[in-house]
Amino acid sequence: MIPESFDLLTPNRSDIAPIQAHIEVTIDDLLASLRRPERLSPEERRGIIARYTSVLEGNFIYWMTSAYLSARSTAAHAIIQDNLLEEVRDNHPGMLRKFAIAAHAVPTDADALAVYRNLEAVRQFVSRLSSVPIVVMMAFFEGFITKFMPYLAELAGLQGSAEREYTDVHGVCDIVHTQELFRALQAEMTLAEDARPPAKSMIEGVEVLRTLIQDVVTT
Ligand SMILES: [Fe+2]
Repeated sequence: MIPESFDLLTPNRSDIAPIQAHIEVTIDDLLASLRRPERLSPEERRGIIARYTSVLEGNFIYWMTSAYLSARSTAAHAIIQDNLLEEVRDNHPGMLRKFAIAAHAVPTDADALAVYRNLEAVRQFVSRLSSVPIVVMMAFFEGFITKFMPYLAELAGLQGSAEREYTDVHGVCDIVHTQELFRALQAEMTLAEDARPPAKSMIEGVEVLRTLIQDVVTT
């Protein structure tokens, strides 16, 4: 959910409002598809944490870097750089690995294989370095992560873990990150005024990443 103050940050909100709405609906649909943690078997709960770790640990910073490399506006560069700095400085991959270890859910070969095909599809998409669709995808990713944190924490709790640093940090900071990425998107779209991709290709990254997230959360 983007707070009302979002309007103040983005004077030309109308440009990105349909994309933002699409992202919110996609996130809500994904969350609505989740099975209650207490209805899952311990192996199903372990699998979700392990696949999430397999996807996020080594790829989040890489995909955010692709957003940085593809962006052209000064505003987008500054926003994405702040995001990357926080990821690296505060060692977010290390935080996630600690979370997985504590929940006895370190990814196995089988977990990596379960997400391989759709992970490769996101990598292919990202390799095109097309700024607007990548920034849209990352805004979706941040938004999803924020809303997914209570569920992930609950899964870990039921697996006997009390480690919460990763889920606590990401439940809060990613709200700001999501807002900031929409501001970056606005800057990129303003710069690409005459050469904007058609609406369908703007949300292409959301679609490939949504399919990958489904692999993560489907038991
Ligand atoms: Fe992070």
